[in-house]
Amino acid sequence: MEAQWQARAELEKAFEEIKRLKDRLHDENVVLREQIDRDFMFEEIVGSSPALKTVLSSVVKVAPTDSTVLITGETGTGKELIARAIHKRSRRAGQAFISVNCASIPTSLIASELFGHEKGAFTGALQQRQGRFELAHSGTIFLDEIGELPAETQISLLRVLQERQFERVGGNRVLPTDVRVITASNRDLSAAIAAGIFRADLFYRLNAFPIRVPPLRKRKEDIPMLVEYFVKRYMRPGFQARSHPGWNCPVPWQRLSRIRKSDSSKPP
Ligand SMILES: Nc1ncnc2c1ncn2[C@@H]1O[C@H](COP(=O)(O)OP(=O)(O)OP(=O)(O)O)[C@@H](O)[C@H]1O
Ligand SMILES: [Mg+2]
Repeated sequence: MEAQWQARAELEKAFEEIKRLKDRLHDENVVLREQIDRDFMFEEIVGSSPALKTVLSSVVKVAPTDSTVLITGETGTGKELIARAIHKRSRRAGQAFISVNCASIPTSLIASELFGHEKGAFTGALQQRQGRFELAHSGTIFLDEIGELPAETQISLLRVLQERQFERVGGNRVLPTDVRVITASNRDLSAAIAAGIFRADLFYRLNAFPIRVPPLRKRKEDIPMLVEYFVKRYMRPGFQARSHPGWNCPVPWQRLSRIRKSDSSKPP
């Protein structure tokens, strides 16, 4: 009788222990899940689709490294947002993030815009001027529409990536640079390489870590959240947003891209 009683007590003790371990596992699981959510918290990037989560996990992975990143994707998919997110999560976060749209600078001025120029380097160069690489020193430079970079400037950029140095236009002093380079393109760079207008060696340097941002039509789950976000962002003060009872989300993605296209409030 005594032995039976003791066996029962031991069994109860074992159950207690199992319950205690189970509770601990549960708590640890909650903590880990919160940790993952925190790591994935991209307050500036709206959406929760699996396709976007894949992009964000790439951001988490590459951010702390100094690797070049090539972000590709259609217009308006948020490539610049992704570039900023990488910078924000890198050891360079406290330094400058300099964004340059290569397509918006005339071919004749792009080298001076990126690398600066010395006084008298060309007609109109009345003063010495620092380029974007100098401004981005210790930080990150984001070169958007990289496919538009003229051949000559492609060579200078390759030199920056290989030797970490450059010269101002019209100068003969070699300047060292410590800048992380992130580029983006909405056009197919392999076609540009095949056509002989983009250097393959530069492409391989830039493409060390490729990130492809999927278009909204491939992540329709994100549309309702984005609509809400944009409506709140662009709503005139004093107005209130109400959803139409007959409105059936997801909306046609073209309608959303029109909302986005009217955005002129780029962060400074
Ligand atoms: N997932 C998102 N969450 C919040 N805002 C977004 C998201 N995707 C895009 N946007 C917003 O849409 C606008 C366009 O994004 P962005 O300029 O980064 O696109 P892009 O891919 O660089 O476009 P382009 O190819 O035209 O240069 C920006 O105002 C950006 O903040
Ligand atoms: Mg862009």
